[in-house]
Amino acid sequence: VAHVAVSNGGIPANDLVLSPCTDAGWLLIEEGLSPAREREIESLLAIGNGYLGVRTSIGGRFSHPATFIAGIYVGDGDLGPRLAVFPQWLNVAVTVENEELTVETGRVLLHRWLLDLSKGVLWREWRQQHPSGRITRLTCFQLASLADRRLLLQSVTVTAENYAGTISVGMHLGPSGTHGNVENVEHADVELVAAEPGAVLLRAVAKDVGIAAASKMHGPGAASWKDTIANGEERCSWKTALGQTMRLDRILAVFTSRDSASPLTAARQHLAAVCARGFQAAIADHVDAWRRRWDSADVRIVGDKAAQHAMRFAIYHLIAAANPADECVSIASRGLTGEAYRGHVLWDTEIYMLPFYVFTAPEAARALLMYRCHTLDLARRKAQALGYQGALYAWESADTGDEVTPQSAVGSDGRPVAILTGQQEHHISADIAFAVWQYWRATADNAFMAAEGAEILVETARFWASRAQIGLDRLAHVRRVIGPDEYHETVDDNAYTNVMAIFNLERAADVLAMLERNRPDDWQRLSERLRIDAKEPQAWRSLAAKMVTGFDRATGLFEQFAGYFQLEEIDPAAARNWAMPIDVRLGAERVRRSRIIKQADVVALSALRWKKWPVAVHEANFRFYEPRTAHGSSLSPAIHALVAARLGDLHLAQTYFRQAAEIDLTNNMGNAAAGVHMGALGGLWQAAVFGMAGVQLREDGISVDPHLLPSWSELAFPLQWRGRRLRLRFEAQPRRIEAAVEGDGEVTVAVRDGPACCVRSGQNFALQDDGSGWGHWEEAGR
Ligand code: BGC
Repeated sequence: VAHVAVSNGGIPANDLVLSPCTDAGWLLIEEGLSPAREREIESLLAIGNGYLGVRTSIGGRFSHPATFIAGIYVGDGDLGPRLAVFPQWLNVAVTVENEELTVETGRVLLHRWLLDLSKGVLWREWRQQHPSGRITRLTCFQLASLADRRLLLQSVTVTAENYAGTISVGMHLGPSGTHGNVENVEHADVELVAAEPGAVLLRAVAKDVGIAAASKMHGPGAASWKDTIANGEERCSWKTALGQTMRLDRILAVFTSRDSASPLTAARQHLAAVCARGFQAAIADHVDAWRRRWDSADVRIVGDKAAQHAMRFAIYHLIAAANPADECVSIASRGLTGEAYRGHVLWDTEIYMLPFYVFTAPEAARALLMYRCHTLDLARRKAQALGYQGALYAWESADTGDEVTPQSAVGSDGRPVAILTGQQEHHISADIAFAVWQYWRATADNAFMAAEGAEILVETARFWASRAQIGLDRLAHVRRVIGPDEYHETVDDNAYTNVMAIFNLERAADVLAMLERNRPDDWQRLSERLRIDAKEPQAWRSLAAKMVTGFDRATGLFEQFAGYFQLEEIDPAAARNWAMPIDVRLGAERVRRSRIIKQADVVALSALRWKKWPVAVHEANFRFYEPRTAHGSSLSPAIHALVAARLGDLHLAQTYFRQAAEIDLTNNMGNAAAGVHMGALGGLWQAAVFGMAGVQLREDGISVDPHLLPSWSELAFPLQWRGRRLRLRFEAQPRRIEAAVEGDGEVTVAVRDGPACCVRSGQNFALQDDGSGWGHWEEAGR
C-alpha cells in the first residue's frame, strides 16, 4: 500500500491542479450516459495535439476508444493502410472493497463529460452508488499536451462519500485491456518491457515503425509503489476514511522510431525528466500553450450562442489536429479522432483546413505543405504510371504519399461498387498548387517558395501540360475526370478542375519569372535540377489561355462538365426529408444521369476564385447550382454559407452556416462516430472569416466586406499577415470595423465600397457607417 496524500471531503480546486473553465461557452458537455451515442461522443470529445489523438470513453459494450499517432499506419490490404490503434492505456480500474466500480453495477447518480475547449482538457465526473449503498465519486481529467506533444497526462480523484474501506485504483498500459471494443495495433507486436520500478514500459511495432511508451502513476508524496508490470498495470490501494479524497496522477510519454533512433530509451528518459519537473509544471505548460494558441485563433461571435459554440468547437479540433514540428505527416479527413477513410489524407486538408492554419499558425500550414513536398516523388510516380509528366498527387494518401484509395467498396445493396476517385479525381494536384500560392501570398515565406513551393508548382503544372489535350476545336480539354461532385464520374472538362489547372499553370510560370528576377541563384538551381526548358513557362501560359472552362458569356454560367446541362432535372429538395442520402435512395445510376450534384463544385470555384469574375457571375452560378446540390459531402454546406454571405444572401448563409455547424454537434450526417469532419470544421472557420467578414488577400494587406448574419451583433478575430498580427472587429449596428496591428510593420485594410487604411504596429483604427455609407478611418482607443 503506497503512501498517498489525502484530503477531506469534496475536491478542493487546488488539489486537482486544474479546474474546468466556468464559462459554458467554452465547454462541450455530455450529461448522462447514452450508449447509442457513445461512439459519436468519443469523436466529439477527442483530445489531441497533432501527434497524438485520443478517443476516450467509459468503456462500455458499445464504445470504441482509440489512441492514434499521426503518420503511423498498419495494414496494406485491398483497402489500403489504416491508422494504427495504439495499445490500451485508457483504463482506470477502480475497486471498492474488492468490487469493481462500473456503471453497470448499482446506480449511476451522476455522469458527465466536460470537454474544456479553452484548455484542451477532457473531464469526467462520475458518482456511482454500489448496491451496498456505498457512494463513490470520481473526477478525472486527461489531456494530450500541446506544449510537449509526446505527453499524455491523466489525473484521477476518488472520494469515498459515505463509507470507510479499501479503495484501489489501477492504470493499465498494454497489449490487451478490458476497455471497450477495440482491436489494438494490427499486425503489431506489442510487448511489455520490465524496467526500473515504478514505471511501465511498452514497445510495439506498426509496419516498420517502432512505438514505445513509458508510464508512471503517482500520488503527491508517494514513496513506494507496488508494480505489477507483468500485466502492465500500476495499481495503488489504500484504506480510506469516511469522506476522504485522494488524487492519483499519471504521466505517459510516447515516442516512435520516426522521432528517435531508440524510442524506448527516449520515452523512458523523457518520462523521468517530466516527473522530475513535476506533473503540475507539465499541466501549466499545456494550459499556457492552449492560451497562446487561442489568442492567435479565437473567433468571437456576439449575439448567437450556438454559432459561437460551434465556432469554438471547430477551432478546438483544428488546433488539436496540427503539429507544426512534423513535416512528414498531414491531417486526415477526420484528423486523429476516428477511423473514417482509414485516416487517409485528401484535398480536404489544402482546400478546407489549410486557410485556418495559414492565417492563425503559419508554421503549421508550412508543415502541412511540406508533407506534399516530401511526397512529391510519389506524385511524380503516379503521373508516370498513368502516362503523364510532372506530378499527380494521390487522391488519398497515408504515410508515404502512395495512392491508397481503395478500388472498391461494398454498396448499400451489399454488392461491390468500383471506386474511381483514385484514378480520376485529379484536381487535387491543382488544389495543392493553389494552397502553396495562398500560403506564400499570406506569409511572404520566400524561402519556402524558392526551395519547395516552386518545385510543387512546376511539377503540378507539368502534369496539366501533359494531361490536357488539344481538340479539333483547338482548345485544351481535360477528359475523363471526377470533379468535386463525385456523383458524376468519368466526365470531360469539369469546370472546377480546368479552372484550377489554369491557375496552376499560370502561377507556375509566375513563380519562375519571379525567381529569375529576385532570386537568380535559386532560379538557376531549380532550372537545372528540374531541367526546365526556357520555353516551358510560355507553353503553360498559352495552354492556360486555351483551356475550356465551360463558361457561357450569355448566361454567365459555367457548365459543370461537358454535357451537364443535358442531364435530367430532379429536384433534390424532395430528398430533404428522406432518411437516406439521395444517391442511395435513387441509385447511383439514376443520380449520374441527373443534374443532382453531391457538393459544391462550381460554387467552390466561386469561393476560391472570387476576384476572377464579377459578382453577377457568382450570383448566376450560385442560383443555378445551389438548388441542385444534395450536400452529400460534409464539405459542401460551409462553402455554400461562405458564398451566400459574400452575395449578401444572409438567409441562405445562415441556413448553411447552421447546417455546417451541426455536422458533428448534432451528427446531422449520421457518421460522426467515425471521427469529426475536419474539412467541414475548417470550412466553418472560412465561412465566418472569408464569408461573413469577407476577408481576401491583397498585395499590401487584406480587404474585407462584412455581411454579418442577422443574429450576430459582433464578429472579431485575429489574422496573421506576413509576420504581423491583425485584429479585426466588426459590429453590425451601426456598421463599424476596427482594425489593430501588433508586430512589426503595417497592414492595409481595404473595405469594399469604402476607404482603405494603412494600420501600423500599435495602432487601432475604426471605420463607421453613419447610415449613408462608410465614413473615414479614425484612430480609436484600444
Ligand atoms: C467527398 C470528398 C472528400 C471526402 C473526404 C467525400 O464524400 O466527396 O470531396 O474529400 O469525402 O472528406
